[in-house]
Amino acid sequence: MNRQTLEREFANLVERELSLNLTRGKPGTAQVALSDALDGILDGNFICSDGADARNYGGLRGIPECCELGSALTDYPAELIMAAGNSSLQLMYFVLETIVNYGLAGSGALRENPCKAICPVPGYDRHFAATEFLGVEMVCVDLNDDGPDMDQVEDLVLNDPSTSIMWCVPKHSNPTGCTYSETVVRRIANLPRLRSDAHSSPFFVFWDNAYSVHDFGTEPVALSSIFDHAVAAETLDRIVAFASTSKITHAGAGVAFLASGNWLLSDLEARLSVMIIGFDKVNQLRHARFLPDRERLAEHMQKHAAIVRPLFEATEKGLQEQLGNTGLATWTQPTGGYFVSLDVPNGLAKEVVALARSAGLQLTAAGATFPYGNDPNDANIRIAPTFASVEEVEAAMTIVGMSVRLAAARR
Ligand SMILES: Cc1ncc(COP(=O)(O)O)c(C=O)c1O
Repeated sequence: MNRQTLEREFANLVERELSLNLTRGKPGTAQVALSDALDGILDGNFICSDGADARNYGGLRGIPECCELGSALTDYPAELIMAAGNSSLQLMYFVLETIVNYGLAGSGALRENPCKAICPVPGYDRHFAATEFLGVEMVCVDLNDDGPDMDQVEDLVLNDPSTSIMWCVPKHSNPTGCTYSETVVRRIANLPRLRSDAHSSPFFVFWDNAYSVHDFGTEPVALSSIFDHAVAAETLDRIVAFASTSKITHAGAGVAFLASGNWLLSDLEARLSVMIIGFDKVNQLRHARFLPDRERLAEHMQKHAAIVRPLFEATEKGLQEQLGNTGLATWTQPTGGYFVSLDVPNGLAKEVVALARSAGLQLTAAGATFPYGNDPNDANIRIAPTFASVEEVEAAMTIVGMSVRLAAARR
């Protein structure tokens, strides 16, 4: 199609005055409805497996049966899990803030010295926002199909003592959908050992396993256990794992989990106790009764998969029809998680997003997948299809494809 025809067809699209939105990485209404049985599930029985009354104060580490659920999500033993409030992101912020201002598990506070976070890119914008807010400088490393480029990461940890943390989304990562290989997981678990002085120059891994059971492909994807590797490397208190039920039950009213070594957990508990007596144990108990074992969890996730799979298939089909064999774009084909990562020719992502908006499709701002909102190549766009219908995704992919082709033709 020549440029004139493209311009005409695009003008026709604009005239349709569509209103579509693929910015929202959140479950659709049918997905959250899968967990409506949470409401009323306790039926007057508020007593936990250890005899505690969920309605009352106390139990900062969470109730035992909910820690079992955290164990299923993180692959850590239940004794090393803290079941907390409704947001893992809030826990990540809290841990980072504690590391920076106070220190954790024998590390000194970092605030006196410049400290940096290693950020595999493209990555999750809210990790970057929290890091920037706390004054921690961000250094990018490449995210490959098998995880972060570990040569780049190890080089930084060995040669730049101001690098103090690393962000990881190890399974169905946001936004590329990649899952880290066993070699990468082992090398990450070993990173804190590359530091000779764990007090003045500590290194912490933030292991955000937000999509650990969120497979929608034909086979569940296996992720090597960071816990096993951390035990072998003796780095348990330098790895902090996170998970939540946000994309399992009710996104705004789930349970978040944190897992690490006992030393780090006790330190965190002590600091938390200054600000809270206990998290919402009634909600924890509801979750534990709703998802009492791994089999029920797997069954439940199959129901999510049945809902989201057609949305990702429609995304793939639309991109293939519009952009396959044009040489203008590459995109990921995730087998789980919430996103597709689209790369357009360098220098065009912002223009593509603007064109799409003019045709009635909102996409996540170009650059959002990089620290400081700055994609140096201006090439990456995150697509989030779960909060739309199949018909909306189909229409949206036409707009995306036309926008990429028009932007390229205009250049
Ligand atoms: C990688 C990642 N971590 C964390 C979150 C948010 O988790 P929570 O709802 O538990 O705060 C998201 C949400 O999109 C995410 O993509």
